[in-house]
Amino acid sequence: MNSRFFPIIHRTNNYRNLFIGIDSPVPLRDGTSIPGVNFDNGATTPPLLSVMEEISRFAPHYGSVHRGTGYKSIISSEIYEQARKEVLRFVGGDYQRDTVIFVKNTTEALNKLANRLYSKHKNGIVLTTWMEHHSNLLPWREKFKIDYIDIDEQGRLKLDDLQTKLERYQGLVKLVTVSGASNVTGHRNHIHQIAEIAHRYGAKICVDGAQLVPHAPVNMGPSNYLGHIDYLAFSGHKMYAPFGAGVLIGPRETFEEGAPDYTGGGTARIVTPDRVIWYEAPQREEAGTPNLMGVVALLAAIRTLTAIGMKRIQSHEEELLAYTYEKLRWLGGLYFYGGIPLNKEQLSQRIGVISFNVAGMYHQDVAEFLAQEGGISVRNGCFCAQPYVQRLLNISREQMEMHLYNPTLPQPGMVRLSFGLYNTKEEIDRLMDVLSKIVRKKTWSGAVAAPPH
Ligand code: ALA
Repeated sequence: MNSRFFPIIHRTNNYRNLFIGIDSPVPLRDGTSIPGVNFDNGATTPPLLSVMEEISRFAPHYGSVHRGTGYKSIISSEIYEQARKEVLRFVGGDYQRDTVIFVKNTTEALNKLANRLYSKHKNGIVLTTWMEHHSNLLPWREKFKIDYIDIDEQGRLKLDDLQTKLERYQGLVKLVTVSGASNVTGHRNHIHQIAEIAHRYGAKICVDGAQLVPHAPVNMGPSNYLGHIDYLAFSGHKMYAPFGAGVLIGPRETFEEGAPDYTGGGTARIVTPDRVIWYEAPQREEAGTPNLMGVVALLAAIRTLTAIGMKRIQSHEEELLAYTYEKLRWLGGLYFYGGIPLNKEQLSQRIGVISFNVAGMYHQDVAEFLAQEGGISVRNGCFCAQPYVQRLLNISREQMEMHLYNPTLPQPGMVRLSFGLYNTKEEIDRLMDVLSKIVRKKTWSGAVAAPPH
C-alpha cells in the first residue's frame, strides 16, 4: 500500500490530521475568533491532505490527456485511464459491463444520463421518489413522464409502493432512480433490494450516490446478481477532493448510439465536412480537455478512503450520529425530521445527517446563531430537496402556492447537521453548548418552525 495515501491512521486513530483547514479560525459576532466546526459536509467537504499533496506532486507532470505524444501527455493519459479502473474497483463495478465517465459532479452525471436515456426511451416512464434532491428529480422530469415512489411518515421509502407502481405501469418503467442516502434525513435506501424489484419488472436502477459513496461501502455488483446497480453517480467534492471531478458509471452499451450531449474536441474519431463518427464511451461523453487535476484529486481521495476502510468510516460516523442524537433528544424544544434512530440496526440505516428545527424559531436564525456565536457551520433551508422537505414539514400544495406568488414570505426549511470523517464528539459538545443557549433564549422573531407530522 502506498504510504502517501495512508499516513498515520493506524497509530493514532485520529482522522483530523488527514485534513486541511478543519481548525481554521472563524470570526464570531463579538469580534473574537475560534477554530471553526464544520457540520456541513453534505454540501461540500474540506480537502484531504493526501489530495493536496498529490495535486502538488503531480503538477510538474501535468499534460494534455489523449492529445499529445510528449512524455507529459502520455503520463497524464495513463493516470487518467488508470483512475477509471480504480474508481470502478472502489464501488465494485463490473469491468466487462461498465464504463466510467468523468463529469463535473453528480448533477452533471444525472443530466447526462437523462439525456442519453431519453434518446433511447422517449416514451418510457421514470420512477423517482419523494425523497430526492433536485438533481435526481429535475433532469428526469424535464424529459420523461415520471412518478414518485411514496415515503412513510418518517420519510423512508415505501418499497411496496415501488412494487405497486411497477405493476401498474406494466413494463413501461425504464428506470427507477433513487438516492443512495438522503441529504435531508440521512435515511439510506435498500438499493440492492430496490434493484432486484426493478430488474424483475425489466427496469434499470440508477443510484444518486452523492451522499452515500463518501460515507459507506458501495458495491454495484456483477450483472448476474439480480440486485446489481446499473448506474451510479457521485461527486469528488463531497468526498474530500474539491477539484471539480465527478463520476457517472453505467453499462457501456447505454452510450453506444446517437450523438453525445456535448459534442466537440475529444468526442469524435472522424469528422468530415458532413459526417461524424463518434468515439466509443467513455471518450465520446467527455467533450473538451478532461479535468485531469480533478481526477488526480479524486483518485487520491479514493486511495485514502480505501486505506482507512469504508466500513471503518461508516462506524465512526454512526458513532457520531448516535452521540449527537443521545445529547440532542434530551435538550427539549427541538423537532427532528425522519425519526430518531433508536438502536444499532436503525443507525446502520442512516448516514450522519440530522435535520431539525427549534420550536418557535426560524431555521435561518438558528443557523446564523450557530455560526456567529459558536463558529459552527451548518446548512439551513430545503437543501435543494424541496418536495421532500415540504412533505416532512407537512406543508400543503396550497401553502406552497402562496410561496410561488410571494417570494418575500419566510421560506420553509430546517437546520441540518451533516458529519464528515474528521468530526469529533468534542465538536458535538460545542454544538450542544450553543444550542442550549438558543433554546434558552429564543429571542428571534420570524416564521415558526413546523413540527414533523
Ligand atoms: N449540495 C446539496 C446539499 O447540501 C446536495 O445537501
